[in-house]
Amino acid sequence: MPLERRSWAEPFKIKVVEPVRMTTPEQRQRAIEEAGYNTFLLRSRDVYIDLLTDSGTSAMSDRQWAGMMLGDEAYAGSENFYRLEAAVRKFYSYKHVIPTHQGRGAENILSQIMIGEGDVVPGNMYFTTTRLHQELAGGRFVDIIIDEAHDPASEHPFKGDVNLDKLETVLKANPERVPYVSLAATVNMAGGQAMSLANLKQARALADKYGTKIILDATRVAENAYFIQQREPGHEGRKIAEIVFEICSLTDGCTMSAKKDPLANIGGFLALNDDEAAEKARNLVVVYEGLHTYGGMAGRDMEAVAIGIEESVEDDHIRARVGQVVYLGEKLMKWGVPIVKPIGGHGIFLDAKAFLPHVPQTQYPAQALAAAIYLDSGVRAMERGAVSSGRDPVTGEERMPKLELVRLTIPRRVYTQAHMDVTAESVYCVYEEREKIRGLRMTYEPKHLRFFQARFEPVA
Ligand code: F0G
Repeated sequence: MPLERRSWAEPFKIKVVEPVRMTTPEQRQRAIEEAGYNTFLLRSRDVYIDLLTDSGTSAMSDRQWAGMMLGDEAYAGSENFYRLEAAVRKFYSYKHVIPTHQGRGAENILSQIMIGEGDVVPGNMYFTTTRLHQELAGGRFVDIIIDEAHDPASEHPFKGDVNLDKLETVLKANPERVPYVSLAATVNMAGGQAMSLANLKQARALADKYGTKIILDATRVAENAYFIQQREPGHEGRKIAEIVFEICSLTDGCTMSAKKDPLANIGGFLALNDDEAAEKARNLVVVYEGLHTYGGMAGRDMEAVAIGIEESVEDDHIRARVGQVVYLGEKLMKWGVPIVKPIGGHGIFLDAKAFLPHVPQTQYPAQALAAAIYLDSGVRAMERGAVSSGRDPVTGEERMPKLELVRLTIPRRVYTQAHMDVTAESVYCVYEEREKIRGLRMTYEPKHLRFFQARFEPVA
């Protein structure tokens, strides 16, 4: 009998292992109460499978670890900086590279040099730190993503695309007040959704017409390139590296969290083509991050990033990486668990509104669901809904986003298929018992990026 399909496997084998610990239900109950029902406040020793984030949690390759030994820990002009610079130029096309300690360091520098009081920054959905830096610099973020992105059930293949009419309306209404269009590939808050090359080209044309720039959030650009290769007509069969290069070439610069696609545990950079802007950025980086040839990273970290960039655009790597995410997502879909479709690049996003229709959004259903999954199995997920969205800086009102999601984020090259099975079964068991889950009340709310440190208790 011929097989229905042939399996694929990860393009690596395991050389070092790190034990993980299973806890009892009583231990987990105590841990989540101590953490104020916020998975960010759990100790990692109390977590069994850690799907909080794909940020800084990748397993580095033997080549990256070997590269760490080549760290040139010079204060100025480290060899590793020049290797990082060369990798960015080769794989992402940009001329100037300003290293930073991680992505938000680059966002801070970029926002300060580009945005003035009263400026408007259109973007394909917000990201928490990105928008906050834009707002702190005096800018106002305007969401110009296509409407489908806000609908978890829409199967649009490129939910990261820009609504070009909305973009043009913003550009027309704010002459000289749009310093750049902020585009992310993929879009984290929409569920790791990709933008298409065709749409990016049209956005580029609009930016040129109105004399503004496009700055890419390149954090997950290789995953975005994979979806273009798989889904966009005319790009099947192209190399991931080639598509990544083309995406970047259509933009004027990028911010990068090297803790994601580039497979490093720490690091980031700002890359720019414009000489004058790069000059300003180099001048500001010494205030916030460190000298312009290390920007908060050790030499060894820059080496790990440089090697990781190269590994991240290999076709075999990215196919296995996204393939693992798809494996988990398809299992959940088969069991009827409501997730954001299509399956995104870095995780599975549970639709908490559909999962817990009896919990109103003002009682933070996604926060409650993440806590419930932890209680069931020790799997740690993350809220991406009303808590993450925070408050409007002008009115002080809570923002209630259409998407109220729980993210099961898959670290790169870390977990096995069996870990995905355990995770899927836990989510399914919680789904079966969903009526028992109660909403939460916030008992402590920090001023900035509240989701990281807020505390909750179950409503009576
Ligand atoms: N942009 C995107 C799209 C991100 O997902 C992140 C971080 C950043 C920028 C900021 O980078 O963390 O290096 O300062 N996202 C992490 C996450 C925190 O879990 O999604 P950073």
